[in-house]
Amino acid sequence: MTEVVGADAESCRRAGAALAAGRLVAFPTETVYGLGGDARDDAAVAAIFAAKGRPSFNPLIVHVADLAAAERLGAFSATARALAARFWPGPLTLVVPRRADAGISALVSAGLPSLAIRVPAHPVARAVLAAAACPVAAPSANPSGRVSPTTARHVRAGLDGRVDLIVDGGRCAVGVESTVLDLTGETPTILRPGGVTPEDVAAVTGGPVGRAATPHAPSAAAPLLSPGMLASHYAPATPVRLGADAADAGEALLGFGAVAGATLNLSPAGDLAEAAANLFAMLRQLDEGGYRAIAVSPIPDRGIGLAINDRLARAAAPRGD
Ligand code: TXA
Ligand code: MG
Repeated sequence: MTEVVGADAESCRRAGAALAAGRLVAFPTETVYGLGGDARDDAAVAAIFAAKGRPSFNPLIVHVADLAAAERLGAFSATARALAARFWPGPLTLVVPRRADAGISALVSAGLPSLAIRVPAHPVARAVLAAAACPVAAPSANPSGRVSPTTARHVRAGLDGRVDLIVDGGRCAVGVESTVLDLTGETPTILRPGGVTPEDVAAVTGGPVGRAATPHAPSAAAPLLSPGMLASHYAPATPVRLGADAADAGEALLGFGAVAGATLNLSPAGDLAEAAANLFAMLRQLDEGGYRAIAVSPIPDRGIGLAINDRLARAAAPRGD
């Protein structure tokens, strides 16, 4: 049975104790809700994959309280430290070489020699991590391939009965998942765009920032750098049509800016941060509306608009599942 609790101090302590005892707990972060389990515990990590129906080759992000805890798990270069100092706590995940003595379940990184690590900023996530006192593996708290949850109700809709406890901390402020930045190669490379933009990263590193190709199916020519780059991901059940000026018959229009006739509008004022925060909840709402398709207004491809367009491209990609 899944229990939903508030985000008061006592509930956060209970959530932390449940994690430390090997249970699964969903909790809010500033990006989306995470489905947490003790990252050192093979059984807990295996339970995360099972609850999501996630393929075991798609590795998880490990959440810790601070840089000191992160450095016990991975090898941090000067660049990695500078990025952590600037953006943690916050919506940036760093992929770094995994330390031999990290003590993290091998299942977490799906056999890769690297580890994806993040220090979340949300006060509830921080309270839960402090109470758990262990590294917490936490993918987004949705069934694999579906839209990520930005409220506790979304988590329950997807995972009821498959997670022990949900901590309800209200709506997530950023609304799209963290930027995943690979620091294991020569050039820092964005594997998944998010709240921290390529310009933000370049401002710290002072050098070039790579960008892994947009959603693709794996092939010999273009292997899967980060399994989260699978083309069809973050998808509602209703087909999605991008770059639409207007809705065709039977379609909903998900608008942006000053468009006429929008069924819902991500941001009437044309604010990209507001649009990101609304994206997943509005996709879900329209998905339940019985439309033939969801047509989406063009979104400027800059700042967090890169992350919005990345998620929309996946939502619109041909379905593999
Ligand atoms: O905002 C977020 O990042 C949320 C919250 C809960 O923190 N978490 C999240 O986790 O989105 P998940 O599992 O849905 O996405 C993790 C992404 C995937 O694209 C995965 O392939 C990639 O990170 N990843 C994890 N470990 C990796 C590694 N060692 N190398 C490359 N990519 C990795
Ligand atoms: Mg996810």
